Amino acid sequence: MTGTGRPRGAARAFRRVPGSEWWRTEGSFFLLSEAHRSKLEGERARAFLERVVALPPPARVLDLACGWGRVAIPLAQRGHRVVAVDISPVLHLGRQLARAEAAPVDFVRADLRRWEPCAQFDLVLLWGMSFGYFREEENLRLLRRIRSWLKPQGVAVLDLHHPPWYRRHYVGEQVELTPGGVLHDEVRWDAPGRRMQVMSTLADGEGRVRARQFHDFREYSFEEIRRLARRAGLRPRSLHGGLRPEEGPPRPDESSFQWVLERDRTGTAGGPQGVLPTSKRNRRNRRRPSRGSPR
Ligand SMILES: C[S@@+](CC[C@H](N)C(=O)[O-])C[C@H]1O[C@@H](n2cnc3c(N)ncnc32)[C@H](O)[C@@H]1O
Repeated sequence: MTGTGRPRGAARAFRRVPGSEWWRTEGSFFLLSEAHRSKLEGERARAFLERVVALPPPARVLDLACGWGRVAIPLAQRGHRVVAVDISPVLHLGRQLARAEAAPVDFVRADLRRWEPCAQFDLVLLWGMSFGYFREEENLRLLRRIRSWLKPQGVAVLDLHHPPWYRRHYVGEQVELTPGGVLHDEVRWDAPGRRMQVMSTLADGEGRVRARQFHDFREYSFEEIRRLARRAGLRPRSLHGGLRPEEGPPRPDESSFQWVLERDRTGTAGGPQGVLPTSKRNRRNRRRPSRGSPR
């Protein structure tokens, strides 16, 4: 560690090409630096989902970009039939943890841009900022695919950063002591691309680098997700801030928002052009939205 608390070599951070396939190394990085966060946050996610989505077990749940299953495992423990997909080797840890906790999660190692499930689901999750990694059209295409994987009454839930909060509190340098060592994040906001670029370095107490990872992702506001979801044939059902079960946009002091999306049955979603315009009759019948709820 240098006098500034910066691990040796951290200055090289942003020479990496944005959009590189960072997740190929994330498994080991996650194992080293993030494990301590997961369990409590997974339980909070499960409690939130049980309050905002009617989910009598055994529901069929798909957890996309599941990491090591911090949300998948508690859901499986509640009796849901959970399929959890991730590209990184972190799935090995997920399998071990699930076995130890007697949680029957079906972990699948795959790229979620190409993977096809052989069933439909009551709930599809993109949890813990697992959306926005790809280019815009690929992100949209993923939402369209999610729509096609939902049962007619199924819902998708996205849990994402609240961009204004993140830009205020996260851009710059962050240093945190984790069980795996000292975690140093250098974070840049690429305004034209609307992408957050993060170079993370994990170092031991002597400043020796144990793992390094670059990732970048498109930051979507809750308004942008509303529009993107509509283009994908998903109807915004409720918006929440900071895992609050009550509806409403995220408050300035909340770091995350959650959209609950359902299949839009009024159009031809899933096709390349998105949904057909909503008929006038449907517009008249639409429930008046509550404050901050989706339109
Ligand atoms: C921020 S982590 C979130 C993990 C988990 N959802 C959670 O809340 O703990 C993002 C995850 O996305 C996965 N990922 C990124 N790109 C992927 C892809 N193309 N296919 C499958 N998983 C991917 C990474 O491996 C990583 O585990």
